[in-house]
Amino acid sequence: MPAQNCEAVVLENSMQAADIYLLKAGLPAGAAAPRAGQFYMLRCWGPDEAPLLSRPISVHEYDGEKRTVSFLYQVKGRGTRRLAALEPGSALALTGPAGNGFLLEGATAVVVGGGIGTAPLLQLAKDLARAGVVTDAILGFRDEPYRVEAFRAVCRHVEVATDTGSVGHKGFVTDLLVPGHYDTVYICGPEVMMEKAARMALGAGVRTYVSKEAKMACGLGACLGCTCRTGEGAPVSVCKDGPVFEGGVFYGSGT
Ligand code: FES
Repeated sequence: MPAQNCEAVVLENSMQAADIYLLKAGLPAGAAAPRAGQFYMLRCWGPDEAPLLSRPISVHEYDGEKRTVSFLYQVKGRGTRRLAALEPGSALALTGPAGNGFLLEGATAVVVGGGIGTAPLLQLAKDLARAGVVTDAILGFRDEPYRVEAFRAVCRHVEVATDTGSVGHKGFVTDLLVPGHYDTVYICGPEVMMEKAARMALGAGVRTYVSKEAKMACGLGACLGCTCRTGEGAPVSVCKDGPVFEGGVFYGSGT
């Protein structure tokens, strides 16, 4: 289904950690339901106002009964600063849901997230649990974890790693990952972490999915702004062909 434009209403918008916010919005009647791994282009400023571009933000949680969608985002620039200033009751323009989303596969799975890359993995973990897939989570942060309890509510085991050692394991999520324990490994986070985790999982012969991040302009496959190259050099559009890809597309043997 093509991405739709709609006007949502902000219900909550609260700080979860330094520069990390959780925004919950109510969708209007008739708006399409998103899948885990899809994203929306968010905008709360006029077409002539800066910044020029809407902000692509992944679905963190979706409640089909209440028709609410939540976004976990990091304040990084003008657009996300404007989002962080939104009060309940404010209007929020959404274009989406866009992108392909995650496939739910296997009887056991682990979601591996780093920093704000943990955002799309919560709805995935919820959907996997609902589908009867036994799901663990390994979540990495620089110093201050966030939204860990939400993962604990749906996962069998949740492990946390921090760079500083303030909480959980001092080190990397890949120190905690044993991919051979699972049928499927889902990964989202900084590129270096994603590559290492994906290569570990692929090396163990485990089905692997990665959710890629890219700078986006249109979010709809029209501008080529998010094009990146697969391991074999073929161009793919992250917003339209992804953002979820099989790990081997980027990190397969020989790449
Ligand atoms: Fe325009 Fe992907 S952001 S093609």
